[in-house]
Amino acid sequence: MFFSRSGNTALAARHVARRLNARLITLEAEDYRLGLWGWIKAMRDARGEGAITPQTVDLDAFDTLYLGSPVWLYSPAPPIWSFVAHNRFDGKRVVLFNTFNSQFKPEFIAEFEARVMENGARSFEHLSVQRGRMTQQLTPQEMLRAIDAEWF
Ligand SMILES: Cc1cc2nc3c(=O)[nH]c(=O)nc-3n(C[C@H](O)[C@H](O)[C@H](O)COP(=O)(O)O)c2cc1C
Repeated sequence: MFFSRSGNTALAARHVARRLNARLITLEAEDYRLGLWGWIKAMRDARGEGAITPQTVDLDAFDTLYLGSPVWLYSPAPPIWSFVAHNRFDGKRVVLFNTFNSQFKPEFIAEFEARVMENGARSFEHLSVQRGRMTQQLTPQEMLRAIDAEWF
């Protein structure tokens, strides 16, 4: 399950799904599409919850869920919070993975973990890959190499 605005988290998610032979589900958030208006809305909402499609997913068949999201304003982006708000994770292992440029704040990850655990998860893990600031970012290939080295 992942949300991605500009494709980095999507690339990471496809890679993880391929490696784990897992099903890939995309969360769409119309409000935050590419372009200036989508960016303005993304900044405005960055720590809230955003409207997503689908809002709920039948998770019965899954033991482990990887939830992928970019970091916005030091926190996982609103669509992934919305997913947690609208779905239960009873007995499941939940792994949050983030792509980000420079920094996230651990308190937002701790809050995310608390929400996931409140919704019944049996465990929570956090994975992330730092792409670097603009103009000196990892290439897509370097990002996937970092994921292979650090997440598996
Ligand atoms: C509205 C907005 C806010 C962002 N805030 C942060 C931030 O606080 N820290 C950070 O490291 N990166 C931040 N970024 C950069 C993204 O986390 C990074 O580019 C990410 O890989 C984008 O993933 P995506 O291509 O899947 O959308 C922000 C990006 C946007 C659009």
